[in-house]
Amino acid sequence: MEFIYLLSVCLCALMSMCQSLAVDKPNADLPAPNLWKFESIDDPANKSTAQRLTWTAVDSGDEQDPVIGYKVKVWEVNKVKTIVYKSQGGKFVATEIEEYPRMSSNVIPESSPTVLVVPSNETTAVYPVKVDVMYQFAVLAFTKTREGPLSSPTHIRLHPTEDDLKSGSV
Ligand SMILES: *[C@@H]1O[C@H](CO)[C@@H](O)[C@H](O)[C@H]1NC(C)=O
Ligand SMILES: *[C@@H]1O[C@H](CO)[C@@H](O)[C@H](O)[C@H]1NC(C)=O
Repeated sequence: MEFIYLLSVCLCALMSMCQSLAVDKPNADLPAPNLWKFESIDDPANKSTAQRLTWTAVDSGDEQDPVIGYKVKVWEVNKVKTIVYKSQGGKFVATEIEEYPRMSSNVIPESSPTVLVVPSNETTAVYPVKVDVMYQFAVLAFTKTREGPLSSPTHIRLHPTEDDLKSGSV
């Protein structure tokens, strides 16, 4: 059974001025990294796929308190249920639909994120993703004493292909 991932990555990099996302200790002096590159890494033998994220390095500007690493936060964004009433033959019929909520760059999902900690000499991370699940990624730099603000988030979802749906592998 062949398992083919669609390469179409729904990549909506929501750039905005909203860097003021909630962090434990926001510090204006430490800039937010810029998540700029996303690559899909497929492993058909294992029926798995992953995302490689790359961001720009951050310099703390303070030799006494250099950046010692990055925290990549990953949220799974859940679909929300909406009831839609449609008129059918003069009657309103309720239909429940599930869809992703409208994404905004300054909204942090309520679910708690998975946090990957990466040493400062690296500016990439790989995170395994499931097909047809929406993820929100954001990254921040930290020093021994402080944590910088989160980058603007990026949303990613791998759409299943027709073949995936037919073979029931999704
Ligand atoms: C499949 O995944 C397992 C565990 O993650 C790994 O040990 C194995 O090498 C992978 N197989 C292939 C063919 O990549
Ligand atoms: C970063 O440093 C660690 C430990 O010193 C080392 O194992 C790793 O290969 C380094 N990564 C890069 C990209 O240089």
